[in-house]
Amino acid sequence: MGITILGTGRYLPDYVASNQEYETFLDTSDEWIVTRTGMRERRIALDTPVWKMGELAARQALEAAGVTPDEIDLILCTTVTADYRYPSAACLIQGGLGAGRAFAMDVAAACTGSVYALDLARRYLETGDVDTVLLVSTEALSQATDYTDRGAAILFGDGAAAAVLQKGEGLFASALFSEPDLNRHLYCPLPRQALPFGGGIPAREEKALTFMNGREVYKFAVRVMPAAARAACEKAGIAVEELDLIIPHQANLRIIETAAKALQIPMEKICVNIQKYGNTSSASIMLCLDEVIREGRIAPKDQICLVGFGAGFTYGAVVLEYQNKP
Ligand code: ACO
Repeated sequence: MGITILGTGRYLPDYVASNQEYETFLDTSDEWIVTRTGMRERRIALDTPVWKMGELAARQALEAAGVTPDEIDLILCTTVTADYRYPSAACLIQGGLGAGRAFAMDVAAACTGSVYALDLARRYLETGDVDTVLLVSTEALSQATDYTDRGAAILFGDGAAAAVLQKGEGLFASALFSEPDLNRHLYCPLPRQALPFGGGIPAREEKALTFMNGREVYKFAVRVMPAAARAACEKAGIAVEELDLIIPHQANLRIIETAAKALQIPMEKICVNIQKYGNTSSASIMLCLDEVIREGRIAPKDQICLVGFGAGFTYGAVVLEYQNKP
């Protein structure tokens, strides 16, 4: 059993942070950023909450799908930058949409979130308990970025994208993994308050912002992206060359190019929008999916591979035959 993508949508904040703007507060340059990452600009959410971006993307996806909020059975939201510890972003989106019949939950798998959530959605649809899933990926990495760390600060942007899914007949296979041994190279702690117990435990000094060892993340990414895509193709029973399109997580253009080379896939078959939006964590693959559908770059029956990696260290890929609204 596969999935039908009834409609997709997006929300991108209006504020555009160009490479030139980073030059004003960091020792960096447009030339360094473009050469090392492929990024030229990203969007920054100055005052729109993460769940609200998700709701706005979801509204567009529902409109494209011709589905009303009360037809949604399940809302899955992927985010590493939720506005609240609780309630979940998914429940806030549900409230914003007025999707009263649904149940809702967040999926935490960092930048691989949308790949994990697609796998979950398909499993729920397969049981028959659920007919319609709304998948929302929404992120404001700007809230987790240390803007004094030039190695990481230039990478991240904000945005949201969503898809309305029902069951379908086409191919679907997934391969999901995680390697927690690498966690020391990429993490973002939550703040901890001082406690009045045990004589008074002081608050943690550590900044509640992203720590990233870029080189280690890079080495991981170029190793696992091709491995995940191959594993999903193998489960699907197709050769990598048979894929019509690959949608990779948009972390670094050099990572994408290296993975494409390892898979021997020409860049024309790879979706890239990193120059416009930077790394939007779990939203990046969904933003690409929305883009290729709107631009008519994929047609029904095309075989596409969505492949991601991220903190955890999670990674994985989904291979699916694209089916849209009948
Ligand atoms: N501007 C100018 N110079 C810089 C900058 C910058 N913004 N950042 C680093 N440099 C310098 C370094 O200090 C270093 O200088 P040195 O040689 O004098 O020590 C030099 O550039 C090379 O640094 P590297 O870290 O080796 O640069 P690299 O080519 O590896 O690029 C980058 C760094 C872009 C971070 C790359 O390693 C990368 O993309 N890694 C993967 C990051 C990633 O995918 N993160 C995902 C996070 S997912 C999440 O957080 C939710």
